[in-house]
Amino acid sequence: MNQQHTLRQRAQAILRQNDRGTYTVPTEGLYPFQWNWDSAFAAWGFSTFDLPRAWQELHTLMAAQWDNGMVPHIIFHQRDDGYFPGPDVWRCQTTPETSGVTQPPVAATMARACWAKNPELGKAHLARLYPQLKRWHAWFMRERCESGAVAIMHPWESGRDNAPDWDAAMAGIDTSPVGDYQRRDTQHVNADMRPTKEDYDRYLAIVYHARDSGWRDAEIRAHGPFRVADPGMSFILLRAQRDLCAIGEILGEDVSDIRAWIAQLEDGVNSLWNAQLGAFDARDLRTGEFAGSVSSASFLCWYAGVDALDMLKTWDQVWAACEFGVPSYTPGGEAFDPMRYWRGPVWVVVNALIGLGLSDCGHTQQAEQLKTASRQLIERAGFHEYFHPLDGSAAGGRDFTWTASVWLAWLAEGEV
Ligand code: DGY
Repeated sequence: MNQQHTLRQRAQAILRQNDRGTYTVPTEGLYPFQWNWDSAFAAWGFSTFDLPRAWQELHTLMAAQWDNGMVPHIIFHQRDDGYFPGPDVWRCQTTPETSGVTQPPVAATMARACWAKNPELGKAHLARLYPQLKRWHAWFMRERCESGAVAIMHPWESGRDNAPDWDAAMAGIDTSPVGDYQRRDTQHVNADMRPTKEDYDRYLAIVYHARDSGWRDAEIRAHGPFRVADPGMSFILLRAQRDLCAIGEILGEDVSDIRAWIAQLEDGVNSLWNAQLGAFDARDLRTGEFAGSVSSASFLCWYAGVDALDMLKTWDQVWAACEFGVPSYTPGGEAFDPMRYWRGPVWVVVNALIGLGLSDCGHTQQAEQLKTASRQLIERAGFHEYFHPLDGSAAGGRDFTWTASVWLAWLAEGEV
């Protein structure tokens, strides 16, 4: 049996092992609930060998949608003391219990990918998901697109929790109301690979403010301590709108409002171009200042169908500085920390999105470069959460759902 074949079996076994029946945990222990974008990637992985289970994953996710259209980033299907902050901290008063912030909307894109595996079976599933996805995307446009690009109200929304993109905006947050608490993540994973205590104090200060605002969007937008336009969220939503539009067309719906959202976002992402940096960059909406950060999210432009040729120059610079791309933050930057979560490590899940975009835009050499590096990381180090960009060693949680999914749906493509 060749190694590729064994890795495919191993990846499938990880999805089965993390499957809790109607949803999949990202990894046992560290993340014991359903996470929003992890779940959409789980559906993508399942779609390669168990399509009904893939659709189930998306339906469970969308069933947790709030009345205002928001789809939360964590769904606490059961209690588990191994994670902090749990539902008693969030106090969102929903059934099922959830967190109060969202995460990058990859679900429409993965729903379309599942449909493509079997259009006949998929159409009824799309018909069920379409109105839910559309309400979520409408919520983004209504509540988060004030500057054209998409704003996040909490670093956890970006999925890139401790990226240097947020450093300046986080620096001034008042943590005096936070008090004592006990983290659980550092019981599962080496503390050097996780956000710092100062980060956590600020994460909690933002949650407390939003909770005390009754989770009202307008209130959080006006008075919340953090409001940053995120290239990752902006590009991912733009791509998701294109896929939602295609889904609407498959279903024979009127998609004129989705087309208008696409035009608005195409225009809006230009506000994130930092000419001095030569890259798309995060922007603090309270000060108007760029973060000055070349991150892996900068390279999601192609995934959104934005073919910025200057980003190819930045691509070459970043790859010249590391053996394995794409680092979550450029090794040339002063905040680079190769093992600390989103401050340097490579996340193959982001590589998959970048790779899809590179292929779509016809940058086949870069797409192959990325696939080769991503394969090598998994072949050498296993299905970990993230990897060291200079030596390729494994970091974070092990037996990770989205790393297994990316292997099945993107890297093992064409293998039998
Ligand atoms: C965590 O707990 O580390 C998550 O990233 C927050 O969603």
